[in-house]
Amino acid sequence: MNTFAMIIFGASGDLTKRKLLPALYSLFCESRLPQQFVIVGVARTAYTDASYLEYVEKEVPPFIPNLQADKVRWNQFCTHLHYFSMDPSQPEGYPLLAQRISQLTGEEAPENLLFYLATPPSLYGVVPLHLREAGLNRAGARIIVEKPFGYDLQSARALNELYASVFEEHQIYRIDHFLGKETAQNILAFRFANGIFEPLWNRNYIHYVEVTAVENLGIEQRGGYYEGVGALRDMVQNHLIQLVALTAMEPPARFTADSFRNEVVKVYESLAPLTQEDLSEHIVRGQYTASGVKRGYRQEKGVHPESRTDTYIAMKIGIDNWRWNGVPFYIRTGKQMPTKVTEIVVHFRETPHRMFQTTEGSYPQANKLILRIQPNEGIVLKLGMKVPGPGFNVKEVMMDVTYDKLGGLPAGDAYARLIEDCILGDPTLFTRSDAVEASWKFFDPVLQYWKEHVDAPLYGYPAGTWGPLESEAMMREHGADWTNPCKNLTHTDQYCEL
Ligand SMILES: NC(=O)c1ccc[n+]([C@@H]2O[C@H](COP(=O)([O-])OP(=O)(O)OC[C@H]3O[C@@H](n4cnc5c(N)ncnc54)[C@H](OP(=O)(O)O)[C@@H]3O)[C@@H](O)[C@H]2O)c1
Repeated sequence: MNTFAMIIFGASGDLTKRKLLPALYSLFCESRLPQQFVIVGVARTAYTDASYLEYVEKEVPPFIPNLQADKVRWNQFCTHLHYFSMDPSQPEGYPLLAQRISQLTGEEAPENLLFYLATPPSLYGVVPLHLREAGLNRAGARIIVEKPFGYDLQSARALNELYASVFEEHQIYRIDHFLGKETAQNILAFRFANGIFEPLWNRNYIHYVEVTAVENLGIEQRGGYYEGVGALRDMVQNHLIQLVALTAMEPPARFTADSFRNEVVKVYESLAPLTQEDLSEHIVRGQYTASGVKRGYRQEKGVHPESRTDTYIAMKIGIDNWRWNGVPFYIRTGKQMPTKVTEIVVHFRETPHRMFQTTEGSYPQANKLILRIQPNEGIVLKLGMKVPGPGFNVKEVMMDVTYDKLGGLPAGDAYARLIEDCILGDPTLFTRSDAVEASWKFFDPVLQYWKEHVDAPLYGYPAGTWGPLESEAMMREHGADWTNPCKNLTHTDQYCEL
């Protein structure tokens, strides 16, 4: 049997230590890696095999729960790890890398290759060309490319063309780790394995949809990367829009890679083009400012002191098709929010006639379905129930199903799932070239608008709050509200335009 070789470019970086090696280790422990395999880390840092192992032994264990319990397995795993020092931006190292892979696999022209690009995005367009020159783009090879795939529509198209000149589309795996999460996949099961929701899943019954992916951290040590990117490119163009697609897509004819990915692209192609009014009024761009002990974005390492990079985006988007016409999708992402949460909230329409009141004398709110991607993965349905006793007061209650109660395997790590899919040649949960372009096509006008209107508002929000107050106003126009509204109004005087 051919030896499987995984070559990680960017092996000395954050992603490799926090996600890739722990994911590979968990696959190894569950015997989900090919029997014969080698992992070759590549980066410029001058490690040898031995010193790379020392680095791995020190840096990776904090990201593997319960590692101490099975040191034997870990030591076995480490015997598969190797390192090759080279500058991936230069062609010279590649013939030597090819030799090293041959030596490790014992095959003159190994076919079973998986390249993982965990380098800065500036190398995404360089590495494939060098792989081709060195003859490493073999028919059996696959390549996983991290986000962001492109910087805008033009660069994404150019990158797609470049990849198509080196690999076949079925060899290219553009990764979006959100799709590797069990709970993101569960949106499909929830929608298409249950008959009761699908008839309601349209503009007749749904008032609006919220998609939120926020975190309570800043940019940590990644100022250099984040400065030129911002929240729209880092989160909205890929992760958030994927969640919109899972929520809004039509049922695929079959659950095959192409059927599924065709439906994703159809959603992107139905996104209502953003008008000038949308661009100026329905996109709220924010940046966190210092608050208490928390640093502001402009004080982070590697960030320009007058940076106008967005760390928060809230926007309203529409989907022009029969199912969704007139139903706004409000999406938002932000750093330094009060908590870390990713969820989709489907707000159903009010009952046509309000008969009952709550014990507080208000009317019960419309039903709400929360699809929680993380944390506390699960599904919550908000209903009105009669309070026992005299009168006819209604109380809001939650029907709550948490994912960890379902049994089965523990919710696997998204990276492990996706790497395994790639090894097995299943591209379903990876982004196809046309989807990347359709998504950029939709968001490109936003980037253009900001470029042409340098004074377009950028709102400061104190770190640890729910983002600019303007995002609340944007929702209220439609009688809508974020599920986690700005509660920290004592900070009101700290919200300002930057
Ligand atoms: N970290 C995450 O959680 C995360 C999540 C999703 C996506 N990503 C994506 O994954 C990629 C890697 O992210 P990261 O956080 O691991 O970045 P990082 O910590 O900065 O690591 C970058 C890696 O690339 C190597 N490298 C090779 N040539 C380089 C060059 N010319 N300039 C700079 N570095 C070079 C670096 O090692 P040497 O300096 O030794 O060469 C290092 O191993 C990025 O594209 C990022 O967008 C990261």
